[in-house]
Amino acid sequence: MPLVIPVILGSVRTERQGERAARFLVTQLEARCIEAPLVDPAALQLPLLDKMYKEYPKGSAPPALEELATLYRRSDAFVVVSAEYNHSIPPALSNTLDHFLEEYSWRPSAICCYSAGQYGGVRAAMQLRAMMAELGASSIPSLLPIPRIGKALDAEGNAQEEWLTKAARRFLDELVWYAEALQAKRAGGTPY
Ligand SMILES: Cc1cc2nc3c(=O)[nH]c(=O)nc-3n(C[C@H](O)[C@H](O)[C@H](O)COP(=O)(O)O)c2cc1C
Repeated sequence: MPLVIPVILGSVRTERQGERAARFLVTQLEARCIEAPLVDPAALQLPLLDKMYKEYPKGSAPPALEELATLYRRSDAFVVVSAEYNHSIPPALSNTLDHFLEEYSWRPSAICCYSAGQYGGVRAAMQLRAMMAELGASSIPSLLPIPRIGKALDAEGNAQEEWLTKAARRFLDELVWYAEALQAKRAGGTPY
């Protein structure tokens, strides 16, 4: 079965840089014939969490949440693209993720973190790793940290530095391995 791997972007600032990394990863996944829809909380105009998706009576959730639930249920893995705000997870990313729970289960995730500076957002990634585990979508061992994102990628998400394409290849090889393994295992059922 062809893989479906949404790329979840976690910043909504008008001047955001994260779109560069998200677009880059969508392109890299699509080059592998993987369906990789961009989940953009700004475009979806996701509200601040009031009710989780599962708390709405069936059929009455806002259309954006219904759309995401449908996408997540047919997904095989998630790529999460995170900036670092004050050494932590950007609130827009927490908010985007928090609307769902069971929809992530039994699927792996992979964390791409980035920053304007030299640390590439890894401090936020460590917290995000714990969060993804709690959501039921534990992250793969490798991270894809992108330091100095404004230089590493152009506005369309094209890599400007050779190391990045190489690192992304290895990162996605690893994710695809886990995604295929769990896809096959899910086909045989899940514990609950
Ligand atoms: C509220 C806020 C807090 C930030 N905190 C950090 C930080 O702790 N570490 C860091 O390396 N960069 C930090 N930065 C700089 C970000 O790395 C940089 O602005 C990045 O582009 C943010 O991602 P975004 O443009 O997609 O929102 C911060 C930026 C903002 C807006």
